[in-house]
This record gives sequence, C-alpha cells and structure tokens, in this order.
Amino acid sequence: MATNRPAKVYTEKDADLGVLKGKTLAVIGFGSQGHAHALTLKDSGCKVIVGLYRGSKSVETAKQYGFEVYETAEAVKKADVIMIAAPDMKQAGIYEKDIAPNLSKGKTLLFTHGLAIHFQLIKAPKDVNVIMVAPKGPGHEVRREFKLGKGVPCLIAVYQGGAAAKKIALAWAKGIGGARAGVIETSFKEETETDLFGEQAVLCGGVSALIMSGFETLVEAGYKPEMAYFECCHELKLIVDLIVESGISGMRFSISETAKYGDITRGPRVVTKDTKKAMKQILKEIQSGKFTKEWVKEYKAGLPKYKKLLSDGEKHLIEKTGSRLRGLMPWVQKKNIHGAQAAYELASASKAKKPAKKAAAKKA
Ligand SMILES: NC(=O)c1ccc[n+]([C@@H]2O[C@H](COP(=O)([O-])OP(=O)(O)OC[C@H]3O[C@@H](n4cnc5c(N)ncnc54)[C@H](OP(=O)(O)O)[C@@H]3O)[C@@H](O)[C@H]2O)c1
Ligand SMILES: [Mg+2]
Repeated sequence: MATNRPAKVYTEKDADLGVLKGKTLAVIGFGSQGHAHALTLKDSGCKVIVGLYRGSKSVETAKQYGFEVYETAEAVKKADVIMIAAPDMKQAGIYEKDIAPNLSKGKTLLFTHGLAIHFQLIKAPKDVNVIMVAPKGPGHEVRREFKLGKGVPCLIAVYQGGAAAKKIALAWAKGIGGARAGVIETSFKEETETDLFGEQAVLCGGVSALIMSGFETLVEAGYKPEMAYFECCHELKLIVDLIVESGISGMRFSISETAKYGDITRGPRVVTKDTKKAMKQILKEIQSGKFTKEWVKEYKAGLPKYKKLLSDGEKHLIEKTGSRLRGLMPWVQKKNIHGAQAAYELASASKAKKPAKKAAAKKA
C-alpha cells in the first residue's frame, strides 16, 4: 500500500504551454469531457481538432464552436496528441479500428480516466506516449470554472513516455485551467481505482441513494413531495458548497446547534459500520477487476440492466417533483439531458461565433 505522504502539487509555474506549440491536438469525442478540453485548450491558444464518428449528434455542435471536425481515423492521422474522450466501454473498439492503424512513433495518447489502460482493454505500442489528465470534476464544470478564470484540480499520470510525456500532461492540464487549482501526479492504477470507488460509493452512487432514501422516507410518512425535495435534495448543494469551502467543521460552523447535534449523533446511524463494510467490498471488486469485467459483459450484452435501472431512476417521483420546483427557479440552469452534451453553451449564447466555413477536409 502507498504511504500517506503529502502529494506534490504542481501549479501554473511548473507547466509550460509552449510544449504544445506547433502541435495538433485531436479530441476524439465531443461529450462532457471532450467539449470541455477542446474549448478550453482552444481558448488557451492551442490548435485543436475534433474527431467523431459519422452520424454523431455532436458533429454539428462542434462545428458551431468553430472546430474542424474529422472522422476519428483522419483526426488521428493529423494529430500529435490524441485525447480519447469517448465513453470508456467504446474506447477499445475505437482504438482497434480507427486509432491504432494511424498511430506512429512519438505520438501521444491522452486519457481522462485510466480504466481502459489499467485493465488492459487497450494495449498501446511502446513507442507511443500514454498519459492521463483527469480533471476531478464533470466536463461541464471544467468548462464553467475555466470561463470564470478558475479551474478544476487535475490528476496527471504517465504510463509510457517518461519526462517528455509528463511535460505534455502538465501543459495540457494548464491549458484546461487545472494548474490554476493544482495538479497532482498519480498512476493509472491509483486514479482508476480511486475514481471508480468515489463515483460508486460516495459521489454518484452513495449520494443518489442517500437522497432518494431520505425523500422516500418523508413521502412515505405522508409529507408533501415538495417538502421532501427541498429537505433531501435542493439544500444538499448549499451544504456541500460549505463543505468544499471550509471542510466538514466549517459547514458545522454555519449550521444551528440543533442541526449540529442531530448531525453528529444521527449521521453515523444512517451510514453505519455495515455501510463501510459494503464500501470495502465495493473497493475490492474494483481492485480485482471484477467490476470492470461485469461492466464489459453488461456493455456487450446491449446494456439491459443499465437501461432498466436508469429508466426506473428517471420515473422516480423525486424527478417529477424536482423538475417542477426547479422550473420556478429561473436561475437554475436547465439542460436537455437527451441532447448533445456540449450544446448547452450554444443554447445560452445562441449568438456564439459562426462556424468557420473552411472546416474539415474530410467531414465526419
Ligand atoms: N463525464 C465526466 O465528466 C468525466 C469525468 C472524468 C473523466 N471522464 C472520462 O472521460 C471519458 C469520456 O467520458 P464522457 O463522460 O465525457 O463521455 P460522453 O459525455 O458520453 O461523450 C462521449 C463522446 O464520444 C463520442 N463517441 C461515441 N462513440 C464514438 C466513436 N466511435 N468515435 C468517436 N467519438 C465517439 C460521443 O458522440 P455523441 O456526441 O454522438 O454521443 C460523445 O461525443 C471517459 O474516459 C470518462 O471516464 C468523464
Ligand atoms: Mg469516473
């Protein structure tokens, strides 16, 4: 096990954007992470092209932002650094078909999550750099923070390529605003295992289950769904903002004595020793590769369980209630959750720059 020594944190002065000068950066996929990296790197003065498959819902969106859009294979041919921003389960297929045949010595493959490399779904040739720049936040947040002059902290890792590859990773992290907040070096293994654990046990899985259970408890006891929504969902952000700003003790500083007493005596009755046991089991399944094996199998079977559980989630009363209440708050940004992930900025600034007419030699 690694020691708990404090990690070295890189900031803007440690990274040189000049490393990317004269290089063509291809972002393959224009979803949550892809659009955020492509747009912020472009704003940082880099030459960025976008690679997509024919028929992708994001081709038009990327063009509207002024990018040259190519089919993936073509984009890889043109690029020095290739970011694979397609979904994890699609990466191996895209790699075999469109990327591997067009790689050459000295090119760099860049990931924002280590799963495909760490679990060897992709095996890159030894003369190609393999690096990671993983912002610790959703793509939309990466873009939003960057535009505010801030940044989302990033992890970087070098799987292959040594010091030169690390410079590229640091420069990329700087280009997307990550070095404003801090960049920590890790390994593909550590990032993959901790990222999967965080999203399963705490951030996405844990929080969603906690919110829904709290909501259901109040509604089943006869309270109005709107009350339950405000108590168990809406206010969560305000509490989390306080925690992010000043830690759990800082959050407790701002709440009432009664809330504090309830927090410290009741919290551990909800998240119990058994919960922690379940967390440890979840971590084991990640480390052993059991989770990834299960996910690959589910993906190959056409996602039956995934689709059913997501659809059940969308039908939950909390979604209907929340949608109505959020509708009363015009400042809460509305998203078309079935549209292109990158389209939201264009919707709010429909006057965004017209697409460059010259774009794309071979259009996707
Ligand atoms: N979501 C996050 O904030 C987040 C955070 C950290 C790390 N990551 C990592 O970032 C990577 C991308 O995830 P994401 O959530 O950003 O994905 P996403 O939002 O689902 O977007 C995926 C993009 O890839 C495109 N795509 C699908 N098949 C393709 C193909 N055959 N060729 C080229 N492009 C293809 C999609 O096209 P369409 O637009 O047509 O669907 C879409 O634009 C993953 O490794 C993930 O683990 C994501
Ligand atoms: Mg993740």
